[in-house]
Amino acid sequence: MGKSLSRALVSAAVYVYGFLTVVSYGLIALAKGTYFKRPTENEKRDLQLARARLWDLSKEFEGLSHHVLTLRSGFKFHFVSNDVPNTPETIKSDKPLVIFIHGFPDSWAIWRHIIRNPGLQEAVSLVAIDLPGYGGTESLEEYNATNVLEKLTELIVTLRTQYGVDSGSESNKKRTIIVAHDWGCVLSMRLAAEAPSLAHRFILSNGPSTKLVESNIRRLLFSANKMLGNAWRSPLHAHVPLMQALRTLIPLARQLVLSGYIFAMQLPTPIVCYFLSGGHQSFLKKCHLASFNKDEYTLLDMASTMASTMGPSAAESDTKTPSGDTYPASLGERAFAHVMHMAGYYRDRAATARWAKSAETVASLHSIASGKRLASTGAGLFDEGPPGTLKASTTIFWGKDDIALDQRICLDGMGDYLVHGSQIMLLPRTGHWTPVERESGAALIKTVEWAAQGEEGDIGTVIAEPYPGVQVTFSR
Ligand SMILES: *[C@@H]1O[C@H](CO)[C@@H](O)[C@H](O)[C@H]1NC(C)=O
Repeated sequence: MGKSLSRALVSAAVYVYGFLTVVSYGLIALAKGTYFKRPTENEKRDLQLARARLWDLSKEFEGLSHHVLTLRSGFKFHFVSNDVPNTPETIKSDKPLVIFIHGFPDSWAIWRHIIRNPGLQEAVSLVAIDLPGYGGTESLEEYNATNVLEKLTELIVTLRTQYGVDSGSESNKKRTIIVAHDWGCVLSMRLAAEAPSLAHRFILSNGPSTKLVESNIRRLLFSANKMLGNAWRSPLHAHVPLMQALRTLIPLARQLVLSGYIFAMQLPTPIVCYFLSGGHQSFLKKCHLASFNKDEYTLLDMASTMASTMGPSAAESDTKTPSGDTYPASLGERAFAHVMHMAGYYRDRAATARWAKSAETVASLHSIASGKRLASTGAGLFDEGPPGTLKASTTIFWGKDDIALDQRICLDGMGDYLVHGSQIMLLPRTGHWTPVERESGAALIKTVEWAAQGEEGDIGTVIAEPYPGVQVTFSR
């Protein structure tokens, strides 16, 4: 009885806070005048052109071609790549495979400034995917952890085959690197913890490890509770521990404010739909504007970012890749409630719920792990670390001006969750969207090159060239 009552109270609090968030975002959009701002004819035309540029399967985008891969389960993933998968040339080449995974509310196109880099295209096989429910990839019925991570793992295992990572005696030479941001980062932290054999290195930016966040929240609440206890015991000197308790809770309060939109996404479907697309999509537009931080944001950028979020339009839905593949049929049905698929990741606990691995997944993870010297990372052999420890070498980038995530909640203690060969790098002039900003984008390109070329030299020194002032706060 007590338990169900407290659960009901928590749900009520989540709903109330979510609802207040929707109302306050609406009021801000009204006050700023973005709420009633209809797109002009020019803006509509620019958006359509941008969608054709990003989503027409028959066209190349700056050296990248479109591919639709059908998994054994029949599920279709869309991605772009500079090399054609499953051809003798690609399988035989010794280029490392680099897989890019985007976050909310984006698609493969958030990486466009990075993956069109000619030097990178020369050096590695680039694959930028759309997550399930986003862009040109099929939808899921439910975005629970098992569904999402199973599909993602099956895709990565298949890509490793189609790009020749695990084929023949060359298997030790070819490296696989996963680069991810925001929700892509959240999911990749789970892969690095629960399926570390998928990649030799993870390069992850501005997304939380949910296990670490949970532990940080518990720690802060515990300390504050202790201080309040002290205040209670000696009321005459209460102000000191009271102030201490308040100060301890500041990061938590700040994260709670920043996370208001996550609470809003727990509300009933029509309200979430309205929140994410009402007022001429003012919420999504606000995200994209923020993603450029201090960089210039042009009308062209506005069209490209919205085209990235919205995915293929009816005009692109009938296009075909050079090898004759088409978008999944479910894309058409999704058009009306596309935003609910993005919200699904927040609603169905993709970050926190248990991943029940299928027998097929366990078998394929085992088979790629056995081809590799796992011991070389020193991971997971003797010291398992706390639950959620990342068991593959990981480079974490953190834009310090993040407007969605509090650094103290998401990064304090992260070192305990990392194994040999890992680093944490703080980017002092960058916000949440590291793949978008010019300076952090250049740093990401350098890091991918460093990882692809065998990780020679100190990464801090390598990154200091494109990003002077980068702070390496952890290196093991
Ligand atoms: C995840 O969603 C699928 C439906 O798409 C369902 O069959 C499965 O039971 C769900 N798993 C969990 C753990 O909720």
